[in-house]
Amino acid sequence: MTGLPVFRPVMSPSLIALLVQITATAVTLVFFLPAFSLLGIDISLIFAAFIQGGVASAACFRFGLASWWVPINLLFVPMVVWALTFGIAPVWFLAAFFLLFLVFWSVYRSQVPLYLSSQKAWGATVDLLPAGSGFAMLDLGAGLGGMLNHLSIKRPDGRFYGMEIAPLPFALAWLRKIAGRGAYQIRWGNFWAHNLAGYDVVYAYLSPVPMAKLWVKACMEMLPGSRFISNSFPVPEVKPEEIVELDDFHRSRLYVYRIPARQGIGAAP
Ligand SMILES: C[S@@+](CC[C@H](N)C(=O)[O-])C[C@H]1O[C@@H](n2cnc3c(N)ncnc32)[C@H](O)[C@@H]1O
Repeated sequence: MTGLPVFRPVMSPSLIALLVQITATAVTLVFFLPAFSLLGIDISLIFAAFIQGGVASAACFRFGLASWWVPINLLFVPMVVWALTFGIAPVWFLAAFFLLFLVFWSVYRSQVPLYLSSQKAWGATVDLLPAGSGFAMLDLGAGLGGMLNHLSIKRPDGRFYGMEIAPLPFALAWLRKIAGRGAYQIRWGNFWAHNLAGYDVVYAYLSPVPMAKLWVKACMEMLPGSRFISNSFPVPEVKPEEIVELDDFHRSRLYVYRIPARQGIGAAP
């Protein structure tokens, strides 16, 4: 790479990726295809699609996108061209888009996709619950409700709650509660609008993006001494009270924090 500066716009990565795709398509149509034509070289549609993908993946670096966007941008248009060769009815693409939309919903803004805590994480979290009965635990972004289901079966003396913003995972978590043995409450909504006061334990398995802001929210709203557990994504620059290593597929870790006493809020002068 040259010493050109990386352009880091204040935009969500999915919008940047869209911009990258539009730019790469324009560059391919305006520059590369006429250049091949001038040279008298006939290129196939799939070859043109890979040129567009090459331009798009190079643009990812310039636009400061994370490295995992590179293969997505490289293959997006070639995959569309490839899929078109099968003559699949457009309604199937629409159906697939709709299904993905119901699962991933606001990922383009939250940058928190759906992936599930391992059973090892479920088991380790049981050990991090308070010893006494009647405690309240919240799973922020409860996904399919697997964590809540497990905990509520293992600790029927506790109260378990979940919030999930994506409609399909929410519906599946709700059905899981109806059909299974778990006793938990699941709400469809945005946890940023939900007050965390009253929960003794808050569990989060999100992404690196919201952690700093979420920690501030937890410290403002949760009672001092209560627990905040983050699977895989530590709070930047905050030392956890404990780190639990999980022997699961991803070798994940649970970062366990205690909410500190509030300083300067309501303190005697
Ligand atoms: C990585 S998954 C974790 C699922 C589950 N907690 C588990 O451990 O298996 C994160 C979930 O958080 C949800 N989510 C992301 N942002 C949210 C928000 N602001 N409010 C509620 N749910 C959110 C996503 O839709 C996704 O289902």
